[in-house]
Amino acid sequence: MKSLFFTLGLLFSVQRLARSTSDSEMHENRALEPLDRGPYFDISASRNVTALVGKTATLTCRVRNLGDRTVSWVRHRDIHLLTVGVETYTSDQRFVASHFPRTEDWTLQVKYPQRRDSGIYECQVSTTPPIGHSMHLSVVEPVTSIVGEPEMFINKDSTMNLTCVVRHSPEPPTAIYWTHDHEVINYDSPRGGVSVITEKGEVTTSYLLVQRAQRADSGQYTCHPSNANTKTILVHVLND
Ligand SMILES: *[C@@H]1O[C@H](CO)[C@@H](O)[C@H](O)[C@H]1NC(C)=O
Ligand SMILES: *[C@@H]1O[C@H](CO)[C@@H](O)[C@H](O)[C@H]1NC(C)=O
Repeated sequence: MKSLFFTLGLLFSVQRLARSTSDSEMHENRALEPLDRGPYFDISASRNVTALVGKTATLTCRVRNLGDRTVSWVRHRDIHLLTVGVETYTSDQRFVASHFPRTEDWTLQVKYPQRRDSGIYECQVSTTPPIGHSMHLSVVEPVTSIVGEPEMFINKDSTMNLTCVVRHSPEPPTAIYWTHDHEVINYDSPRGGVSVITEKGEVTTSYLLVQRAQRADSGQYTCHPSNANTKTILVHVLND
């Protein structure tokens, strides 16, 4: 009796072993021959985009397992079909779709984007029913300001501290330079005591410091960011 139980137990465990082997074989077969789960979006590669007014914006849609289906781009604001494959379907020729062979990326370029082009764009795949992935495009215009503009009054011999701020820039300006009465400020001039500090970030700030301000330092100071509008402040140095 004891040995029968033992044999039965062994039999069960052998069966269990056999079943688990065939299970893992099935998993392996599935990995070798993936079930056709149809097209799907690689969300991590298909993201929201922030672009500058006037500078070509590119939305990317990565579709895996596309097969012979077609990728289209639709603007949500007015449910307007912009492109089908690499053909532009709208009369607005600023919209151009591209696909590079051997990649899974389908891009929509918006040339000369304006602020009103901001909104949701959907990449659609022609399955039945169609599937789509939406992305947000925001078209921004950097804005430059100078603290205290348009005019500043300071006392002779005090420090002139002009602060130029650039906001809404998708990337910090690569450079900011200053002019005084339309001439580029030379920080190594014999006058001395003129310096600039620029802090780059989501908001970029450039400080122009002029020590011991004199009457000759009066005039128009203009801040010129590389990717935003210029701004001017009129400075009056007062005799005390
Ligand atoms: C994309 O932008 C939309 C609208 O601004 C927002 O609701 C969504 O969370 C954003 N998605 C990602 C992944 O940032
Ligand atoms: C210049 O002014 C800004 C504020 O606009 C201030 O944060 C900064 O410390 C000032 N710099 C100097 C050297 O006074």
